[in-house]
Amino acid sequence: MPTEPSDAFEPAATPDELLARRAAAVTIRPVRFGDLDNILELISPFVEKDVLLPRSEGELLELLPSSFVAEDAGRIIGYVGLEIYSIKLAEVRSLAVATDYQRLGIGQRLVQACVDLARRKSIIEVMAITSKDDFFRQCGFDFTLPGEKKALFIHTTKS
Ligand SMILES: CC(C)(COP(=O)(O)OP(=O)(O)OC[C@H]1O[C@@H](n2cnc3c(N)ncnc32)[C@H](O)[C@@H]1OP(=O)(O)O)[C@@H](O)C(=O)NCCC(=O)NCCS
Repeated sequence: MPTEPSDAFEPAATPDELLARRAAAVTIRPVRFGDLDNILELISPFVEKDVLLPRSEGELLELLPSSFVAEDAGRIIGYVGLEIYSIKLAEVRSLAVATDYQRLGIGQRLVQACVDLARRKSIIEVMAITSKDDFFRQCGFDFTLPGEKKALFIHTTKS
């Protein structure tokens, strides 16, 4: 008996849908010891371009309890560390997303993981020292704190 042609035609996914699926496949999770080599590999192109400060394996290890990776099918495609200075202050460090995964919201999710961790630890302020201020403003950061307080810096190696 001849079979009826299927009318369940599935239109091809649009580029936006494909990007959304790519982003949805990415999970954010705490860093494990076995991730360290992959994290160094991820951040090294950004270090070479002077976008990020170099990190040793020892430094990553120190940050391990308060750092996160973004992972897609076993590949580490994003990293961030939250450096905790005190019960009041922490800093977002070494944030990186692989170039082929950028602009999919992964950076924002990594920063949110840091902010959530700070909140769980009752740390009052989380800061970022960065040239990517548009990105951090999208993540809810601002140049001033409540009460018109501002962060000011002095570089001790410059006179
Ligand atoms: C900065 C970085 C982490 C952003 O990660 P990302 O996953 O691409 O960022 P997101 O997709 O979460 O961006 C969220 C929003 O931030 C803004 N944004 C992100 N990257 C931006 C950029 N380069 N310039 C201006 N705005 C940007 C956009 O508004 C974006 O939303 P949109 O794509 O819908 O417009 C990534 O570009 C990166 O790894 N850069 C190299 C390393 C680096 O500079 N790290 C920061 C040092 S502190």
